[in-house]
Amino acid sequence: MTDSPVAIVTGGAQGLGAAICIELLKKGYRVCAVDIQGEKAEEFAKQQQLVYGKESITASHCDVSKESDYIRVFEETIKTFKRVDVLINNAGILLESNPRKTIDVNLMGPIYGCYTAFKYMGKSNGGNGGVVINTSSLAGFLPAAENPVYAVSKHGIIGLTRSFGLPLHFDKDGIIFACVAPHMIDTDILKSVNKTLVPDYDISKVHSHILMRPEFVAKGYMKILEDKINGSVLTVIPGEYRYIEAQKEVTELLKRNNI
Ligand SMILES: NC(=O)c1ccc[n+]([C@@H]2O[C@H](COP(=O)([O-])OP(=O)(O)OC[C@H]3O[C@@H](n4cnc5c(N)ncnc54)[C@H](O)[C@@H]3O)[C@@H](O)[C@H]2O)c1
Repeated sequence: MTDSPVAIVTGGAQGLGAAICIELLKKGYRVCAVDIQGEKAEEFAKQQQLVYGKESITASHCDVSKESDYIRVFEETIKTFKRVDVLINNAGILLESNPRKTIDVNLMGPIYGCYTAFKYMGKSNGGNGGVVINTSSLAGFLPAAENPVYAVSKHGIIGLTRSFGLPLHFDKDGIIFACVAPHMIDTDILKSVNKTLVPDYDISKVHSHILMRPEFVAKGYMKILEDKINGSVLTVIPGEYRYIEAQKEVTELLKRNNI
């Protein structure tokens, strides 16, 4: 147990983040679940300790929009578990009425997370390398009439992942970057879809077969941990995980024109 791998999961108190923590625990990882709802994360960790053992999971308060919180969480985790192998940037909000906060949490959060991972996991800084998985959405490819700023943040995650996923970074620091882009998951975030822009939107009318269970999406993160494809984007729709080469057409256009 003491040399089993260690993962930090942001937004780990509920929803998809909690499901990811459980999948990691099942695979033998030790986990640090962090969330702006610190007490809820601690409660969740206590429940999981009953199943997976006292040394298996810790919890901490963390506001991902603050770089200093990421640094504290890495320091605490290394103090407790002696290592960090995986960072899952999962925390996110849907708050179209506050564009700055949306960008701060959904995009600046993972940006701080990636830089903190370089600092503590990067081989050029004395670390052992590892894996960072960011959380995008199908709104990272598609326009979203009801949540344009959310779509901006999730498009940004794909650019962030693919840029840090280039060989230049891997050769220096040995960290694999990948992201998951799921369709709709049955979690609390869907209650916050913006009704000002699209008044007719009614989540209760979304067919239940379209809504995915968080556990199914969480298994996509485990697939990435097994496949370890640097810069990859794994889309998740009901019943299917599929890697998508984003911007394929643009790359082909440039190639056709020798650019
Ligand atoms: N539910 C969906 O349909 C769906 C689809 C695609 C992508 N996603 C993404 O999945 C991720 C997880 O969301 P979810 O569906 O589980 O929703 P959720 O609302 O249940 O969970 C989000 C978690 O993030 C935490 N959080 C919010 N702000 C934070 C902050 N500043 N710092 C730390 N933690 C913070 C919340 O407390 C909560 O525990 C998000 O990034 C979301 O954008 C969700």
